Amino acid sequence: MAVRPLLRMGDARLLEVAAPVADPTAPAIRELIADMFDTMAAAGGVGLAAPQIGVGLQVVIFGFEKSERYPDAEAVPSTILINPLVTPLSEDEELGWEGCLSVPGLRGEVPRCRSVRYQGVDPAGNAIDRTVAGFHARVVQHECDHLIGVLYPMRVRDLRRFGFTEVLFPELGGAPDAGES
Ligand code: NI
Repeated sequence: MAVRPLLRMGDARLLEVAAPVADPTAPAIRELIADMFDTMAAAGGVGLAAPQIGVGLQVVIFGFEKSERYPDAEAVPSTILINPLVTPLSEDEELGWEGCLSVPGLRGEVPRCRSVRYQGVDPAGNAIDRTVAGFHARVVQHECDHLIGVLYPMRVRDLRRFGFTEVLFPELGGAPDAGES
């Protein structure tokens, strides 16, 4: 288990499409996931995708009980999702603020589908199949975007709603790299 360096926007590896995991139960995948949790915790994030630590595989983790950085967000169960498939369930889009550990210090307002179904497997090989909405749906869409080489600033429509966290949200007490997934 180890905290791994986080790639930051500008690194070409963040723009690659991640490969499916052949064997989700493999020991190497368990080690990867342990490193991802260590790295996410050290950075105070609410989600992380494997490409953010330079591993081009379809593995994402997310979840929190209560986030200082998203004080109004409902809890999201701690989840390990391998080989995900995300299906939009509504045409409704919702705007919301996002940050990313690969884009430190910034936040932007991003349109996301309000409700999605996501499927995949966990590291025991069990199927995951959930229908979610709101912030949970937002986090899943943000993380799975990392697997197709998309960072949230690429989805910001109004760049006037993109800026430094401590300027946009001084009330967060300068939580430095707020966000973040
Ligand atoms: Ni991110």
